Amino acid sequence: MINKINGLLQEIQALKANSAEEVEKIRIKYLSKKGEISQLMNDFRNVPAEQKRELGQMLNQLKSAATERLAQLKESLASQAESSKSEIDLTRTATPMPFGTRHPLSIVKNEIFEIFGAMGFTIAEGPEIEDDWHVFSSLNFPPDHPARDMQDTFFISRSAGDILLRTHTSSVQTRTMERQRPPIRIICPGRVYRNEAISARAHCFFHQVEGLYIDRNVSFADLKQCLLYFAREMFGPDTKIRLRPSYFPFTEPSAEMDISCHICGGKGCAFCKGTGWVEILGCGMVDPNVLEACGIDSKEFSGYAFGMGIERITNLKYRVKDLRLFSENDVRFLHEFDAAR
Ligand code: PHE
Repeated sequence: MINKINGLLQEIQALKANSAEEVEKIRIKYLSKKGEISQLMNDFRNVPAEQKRELGQMLNQLKSAATERLAQLKESLASQAESSKSEIDLTRTATPMPFGTRHPLSIVKNEIFEIFGAMGFTIAEGPEIEDDWHVFSSLNFPPDHPARDMQDTFFISRSAGDILLRTHTSSVQTRTMERQRPPIRIICPGRVYRNEAISARAHCFFHQVEGLYIDRNVSFADLKQCLLYFAREMFGPDTKIRLRPSYFPFTEPSAEMDISCHICGGKGCAFCKGTGWVEILGCGMVDPNVLEACGIDSKEFSGYAFGMGIERITNLKYRVKDLRLFSENDVRFLHEFDAAR
């Protein structure tokens, strides 16, 4: 009997179970009324009196060892089930992500791209940190021109040739002319910087789209037709344009273009200050000095250029009253343009 008890003890310590059914089988085999341990208890009645004490103790130990082992097996099964339970519920619907909206400046910029794209203009881009040559000198700015002054331009370094933040994207036009032979037909979008106090009507940075067309026999009439087409596409087919003489160092002749006020239809209102016209861009025929500075023969080629502020066009289209709204990243402002997207 001693051997039998020791054998069972070893057996019980080595028991393993992978499921609740297996645990139950073990219980029945060892601990039920007809189980092995109960059987031994029955046999115990026939044990000689002098062995009863020792065997009784061993049997009790065996029974509690079996009960304990069974509890251990149950517990480890339960914790296994817990840890294998997946944290992710794959049947749940995904959390809806709210869509962002396009920035009004991007909406208008894309519209400008489309209009000029239809006329064969392609997009050219260049660096925002520029040198004096590409922003000023190549564009026929006299050395003492006020635009070079510290008040307008953010200089980064004044040694080893001035390094500065571009004040217009005309610098991309010079870079393209230096690289590419005519015909050139590009628009140059991008951010530009001017050292101005920030207010509702001015900011130290804004966005431009400038255009350049260089080929043989390009005339002022071509420029005017191109800009008329743009104005009508952008502001509606009834839009009129007006060119006023102006001055830019890099164009000759130069002009500023107004469009008929599309708010009052040209009758005069608070928006156009009673004039019926609003200014939208600067333009002109590229000065021969600029062509020559970029290595283009000014006797063979001529061209026109124009430049506009995207903020200005956006204000005219959507009447944004405060320039600062464009860079404040307030989603409530952006959501006002949901419909225009
Ligand atoms: N570069 C000018 C500006 O920034 C705009 C312009 C471009 C005017 C081309 C004429 C021709 O104000």
